[in-house]
Amino acid sequence: MDHFAYRDGVLHAEDVSLEALADRVGTPFYCYSAATIARHFEVFSAAVAGLGNGDPLVAFAIKANPNLSVVATLARLGAGADVVSGGELARALAAGVPAGRIVFSGVGKQAHELAAGIDAGILQFNVESEAEIAMLAEVAAAKRKPVELAIRVNPAVNPGTHAKISTGNKDSKFGVPIERAGAAFVAAAGHEWLRPIGLAAHIGSQLTDLAPIEDCIGRLGALAAELRGAGHAVTRIDVGGGLGVPYRRDQPPPPEPTVYAEMVARATRGWDCRLMFEPGRMIVGNAGVLVSSVILVKQGAAKTFVVTDAGMNDLLRPSLYNAWHDIVALRPAADRITATVVGPVCESGDTFAEDRDIHAVAAGDRIAFLTAGAYGATMASTYNSRPLVPEVMVNGVDWAVVSARNEPAAMQALDSVAPWLAQPDSPRTV
Ligand code: LLP
Repeated sequence: MDHFAYRDGVLHAEDVSLEALADRVGTPFYCYSAATIARHFEVFSAAVAGLGNGDPLVAFAIKANPNLSVVATLARLGAGADVVSGGELARALAAGVPAGRIVFSGVGKQAHELAAGIDAGILQFNVESEAEIAMLAEVAAAKRKPVELAIRVNPAVNPGTHAKISTGNKDSKFGVPIERAGAAFVAAAGHEWLRPIGLAAHIGSQLTDLAPIEDCIGRLGALAAELRGAGHAVTRIDVGGGLGVPYRRDQPPPPEPTVYAEMVARATRGWDCRLMFEPGRMIVGNAGVLVSSVILVKQGAAKTFVVTDAGMNDLLRPSLYNAWHDIVALRPAADRITATVVGPVCESGDTFAEDRDIHAVAAGDRIAFLTAGAYGATMASTYNSRPLVPEVMVNGVDWAVVSARNEPAAMQALDSVAPWLAQPDSPRTV
């Protein structure tokens, strides 16, 4: 459920008209609903409450939407954070996530990022290779600080999602292959400053079938039992994120959090350890839209193109994954058209929808790409020297710009003209 709905024929975010917001902020812009973010977190947390030996940690995957106001909204509700870089760690801390609720994942953490996590006093590192164990041991030893870690296991499970967002299959770069994960745990226990306390896995994203997750959890359980049998304590198991969200209103939705939680309860019965979850998309996906204006409607040889002021650089998912986002007019007319919705970027891949049945729109009309709160703004780029678009958060009748439009001059200010080019009469060197 989300808080985007039509009132008096105009799409609103909570109590704020998106047309009115567009007049104030200009398009394109992302708009997030604080009530929807909070609701999704609360529904997920309530579903998993009491699983494991109590007090499960719900660590929001910052990568899905790292906006400070988004993370702060969640931090106030008690969310933890799953971070994958020094930058995400800094954001989680700045947004008020307590260090003791932060998990650091990622296949290529660097020594300075490990050091930053240790300095901050985070809960645990999810370690993805034997080489990373050695690196973490070195950094921890230099700081003379004990560090808790889980081994992120590659369970060799096919998650049944898009190849580019599958992470648990055998040939994926993520995690320690399950056959070696026990040995990695034992090896970590041999380092003076390392404290292996658990196991972790994350098999993929936008999962709509729970069976592969259940399979993965079963494999983690078997490995935990093996380690316990050998005298090791396994006190935390992190089952990752990945639960899918409905992108298409005309298709059956993925399993509800309660159904997911029932599966987890079944798969982890009797485990006696703290469970951890890393949902990203499930929390913020349907809590955000991208609002855009129609620049013009163009008749091609065989297609009608609706050209929008948002491009693939603003919302990359359709180009990268052929992802579907519902497209609606902010002020829909009764008529509908079949159109190919494209951005202004100079790539044929800058296509949001092919031959889609949409509300009839004309130049100047505004539209919204729905379910754009996860992996939207955060994956944007400035390709074609297009500025990053603003992000707005709505909370009831209140709204605020929570990330400013970065104007072309600000982007350009990061470049500089090499000294030999700055002098007009310098000799040619090439
Ligand atoms: N934990 C780890 C270790 C992850 O790598 C991810 C996502 C998550 C949790 C959160 O997964 P979620 O609950 O959001 O599915 N850009 C892609 C998605 C990439 C997901 C990467 N990892 C997209 O737009 O679909």
